[in-house]
Amino acid sequence: MGAVPVPPVPPADDDGPDHDWAPGELPSAIATLAAAAAAASAPAAATRPELVGRLVLLHDLSFIDRRSQDTRRYLIGLIAALGLAIALITVVVAQFSWRGWIQGARALMRGEGLLAPFAPVPELAPLANELRGRLRDLEDEYRRSQGPEAEWTAERLRALLRTQLSGDQVIVVSNREPYIHERGGNGGGIVVKRPASGLVTAVEPVMRACSGTWIAHGSGSADRDVVDRGDRVAVPPGHEDYWLRRIWLTPEEEQGYYYGFANEGLWPLCHVAHVRPVFRESDWEAYRAVNQRFADAVVAEARSEDPVVLVQDYHFALLPAMVREQLPQATILTFWHIPWPNPESFGICPWRREILQGMLGSTILGFHTRYHCKNFLETVDRYLEARIEHEHSTIAYRGKETLVESYPISIAWPDGQADTAWAPVADCRRRVVERLGLPPAACLAVGVDRFDYTKGILERLNAVERLLEKHPEMVGRFVFVQVAAPTRGALDEYKSFQQRVEQTAGRINQRFGTPACQPVHLLARHHEPDAVNELFRAADLCVVTSLHDGMNLVCKEFVAARDDLQGVLVLSRFAGAAREMPEALIVNPYHVEETADALHRAATMPAAEQRERMASLRSTVREFNVYRWAGRMLADAGRWRLRARIEARVRRYQEDGQTQDA
Ligand code: F6P
Repeated sequence: MGAVPVPPVPPADDDGPDHDWAPGELPSAIATLAAAAAAASAPAAATRPELVGRLVLLHDLSFIDRRSQDTRRYLIGLIAALGLAIALITVVVAQFSWRGWIQGARALMRGEGLLAPFAPVPELAPLANELRGRLRDLEDEYRRSQGPEAEWTAERLRALLRTQLSGDQVIVVSNREPYIHERGGNGGGIVVKRPASGLVTAVEPVMRACSGTWIAHGSGSADRDVVDRGDRVAVPPGHEDYWLRRIWLTPEEEQGYYYGFANEGLWPLCHVAHVRPVFRESDWEAYRAVNQRFADAVVAEARSEDPVVLVQDYHFALLPAMVREQLPQATILTFWHIPWPNPESFGICPWRREILQGMLGSTILGFHTRYHCKNFLETVDRYLEARIEHEHSTIAYRGKETLVESYPISIAWPDGQADTAWAPVADCRRRVVERLGLPPAACLAVGVDRFDYTKGILERLNAVERLLEKHPEMVGRFVFVQVAAPTRGALDEYKSFQQRVEQTAGRINQRFGTPACQPVHLLARHHEPDAVNELFRAADLCVVTSLHDGMNLVCKEFVAARDDLQGVLVLSRFAGAAREMPEALIVNPYHVEETADALHRAATMPAAEQRERMASLRSTVREFNVYRWAGRMLADAGRWRLRARIEARVRRYQEDGQTQDA
């Protein structure tokens, strides 16, 4: 404590009035210091002669302040602690009830009822529906708010053709025809078949939306019986949305061009599936001749000098340049449905330069993935003297430019009419179980493919066998149904592959089959789309184990078929589709153990997880549908045509200017 000021006391010789202090009346004062209070009193010793001095009493009263401050602090602390405790209790209670709400809402979304696993409460069904509907609305609103990318539909594609391509004629060229007329239906009549072809699955709905003409090889036994004098027939039967123009090939042409160069040469070359490509001079000659015949047919069908020509696949690598020669103004979109290998692998082909030159007749060259585009650009860089602009993904060759772009192909999403006609999932299952004589409680896995060595059918059978070895409880319960549509059966490689698959299936059935249950059902015959759809709806899981695939549409069709949000997709990482569908169980089909484990995981996956994965897969496939695939390509073509028109006008002005100057 510092110096304490005491009240002034008059000196002894002071003239001023003397005070006569009564005892107890001593002068006193309270002084407040910076840190304390003090009381001082001083008896007036000087005023009384008998007093010899003054006594100053100093009382430190700061304790009063301290006490009251302490009390205030304790009080504030107490109130704050109380407040905190109350807030905490409120938050905890709110958390519990909020979580409860969220869990309840989630359960409702999953269609499980609030008190899962108890039976759903029927009274809550309307609320659940309302919540689901609201969520869908919110999702739509969100999508719209993300940008102008509205959903692609057949109508939108038609509108694009009208506006950006001013209704120009569309001509499709493919080897496989979308409808095959065969003799030998019931009573010997003609039946119409739909081929097992990813290309047809994708391009057909586009053609129905665009009209136009589709040029393809007439391969059916009754094809000639139904065409007009121009070899044309309106399809689809009963709807007649567009023309199918058929090209007839001799057996020699078919052998050299289709079986030989396309399927013994280019197919294994591009798929890198450990089957050696075979290149024969005679096949190459046939391939060139048939490409020319189809190119001539395009020119003959063209009603203007600048039609939009959609060239499909590896059967027609030379056709774009052939058409370009006769119709320089045509917009040629070539789509390569299979993978494109790296430059070293492609270099095996003795006619690699001719193939590349032919393809660069295209205005736009499309692949499924960026990776295939990159391989193509590098291949051109390696084998041709061309200018490549990596930034714009264009190749300038002999004065013409080609845009190389990725357009992931897809399917037409069921339009609401198709899926309402589908039988309920339970009925599909009952029918499949009855037809194949399966145990009613079987866990049903399906595979649907062409009987092709690139599809990994042997690998998936090995995985089924391993699954049954590892999980004996699955024996008699796990059933794998493989639909394998016959294809290219004239080729030795395909014949021996089919034999190996049959042997493997037989071995598994011998090891694990019981009188009541065969684990593998190999259905090596063509199935129409409705039958495939029924199988997809009946299945617990779908297995796609391609060793290499441009895209693979089977997995997308399976997802589209499952409007009940059940079923698990096991998908090869070597299919282009794996990039778009990460919610599938992604496997390396060469790894038997990994694939067997994925089968087991799929077979035992809880319904809620299946629902979660399937809902997400469905929203992807629905958005990235085939109309988007075609729409993006045609929109690019529209821009390209516009640019070409502007450049032509500019050139004309320049030429006019030069003549005037002269
Ligand atoms: O995968 C490319 C593709 O053209 C598919 O569209 C089709 O499934 C297959 O190859 C061709 O099969 P096919 O030789 O039987 O016409």
